[in-house]
Amino acid sequence: MDAQDRFGALIGDMPLLELRRFGERRNLRARIFAKVEALNPAGSIKDRTAWGIVRAAEAEGRLVPGQLLVDLTSGNTGIGLAALAAARGYRAKFYLRASTSTEKVALIHRYGAETVPIDDAEFLAPGGVDAIIARVRSENPDAFYTDQRADPANPRIHHDTTGPEIWRDTDGAVDVLVAAVGTGGTISGTGRFLKARKPGLRVAAVEPGPDSVPTPERPQVDTVEGVHRVTGVEPRLLPANFDAGVVDAFIPCETREARAVARALAREEGLFAGPSSGAVLHAAAVLAGRPEHAGQTIVAIVADSGERYLSQDDAIARPRGGPGPA
Ligand SMILES: Cc1ncc(COP(=O)(O)O)c(C=O)c1O
Repeated sequence: MDAQDRFGALIGDMPLLELRRFGERRNLRARIFAKVEALNPAGSIKDRTAWGIVRAAEAEGRLVPGQLLVDLTSGNTGIGLAALAAARGYRAKFYLRASTSTEKVALIHRYGAETVPIDDAEFLAPGGVDAIIARVRSENPDAFYTDQRADPANPRIHHDTTGPEIWRDTDGAVDVLVAAVGTGGTISGTGRFLKARKPGLRVAAVEPGPDSVPTPERPQVDTVEGVHRVTGVEPRLLPANFDAGVVDAFIPCETREARAVARALAREEGLFAGPSSGAVLHAAAVLAGRPEHAGQTIVAIVADSGERYLSQDDAIARPRGGPGPA
């Protein structure tokens, strides 16, 4: 293995952590295990996506040495791709929402990649994402568009790695998978693998609640990066990598609930997860409180660390020496 491949070898094989105190405090009837993806080399589950897409493109000769990688990203894919680009000798440039956390933008720059901020309202306009994709492609005609929303290598890497790891590490006991939907790669690939192993397994997606859905009229709503609405969205506007057939239940979560669960998790379990993980664990707790899941094993995807959202959090504005908001 050469040095460049050793970077890839660090990706994946992430541990499960049982959230015992979290479950006891809420009188939950099912066991919840967090799949802790922040331990990937560039800090999120999106390192898998980046690795899957880049390696497939290299193998198929679609990427040439030194080429520019471009994508539309909520940040984590950009960070994963930027790190991988640095390790494998590519240049990289990412178009992201202007509201993306400052830490994520700074991390992308630290790996030597460029960013282009796009107004949130542009994303939310009818057909906005398609228009931005067209712009990304036309502004970078010679670049390799990594296309995390449609490249089948995205769900495939989760089918081939995330799913088998969960199966192995629960000894096949997993009954429910809970994840957020950004591109849909995680939930679709992991869900497909696990359902093929265990047909009774249920897959649940967390979605923003009604107060947390931005609209063209209200683009400034506080949202959770990586948690997108799926129900009620026209199928042609959903990412091609989202397989609606794999999801059995959609659980709503407001942004304030997601942030509160992420804060509670840090205090109760010592696991400092990002807000999308707060949303996923909110959904996992809802399911774990239901009688039909009593005694079951729920695996929740903890996509990244809260460290990359600290500037969005009131924790940094706490009174000196105080514990901050609960
Ligand atoms: C923090 C976070 N959580 C969850 C997701 C959802 O992952 P996926 O794109 O595989 O649906 C993303 C990516 O969009 C993310 O950045």
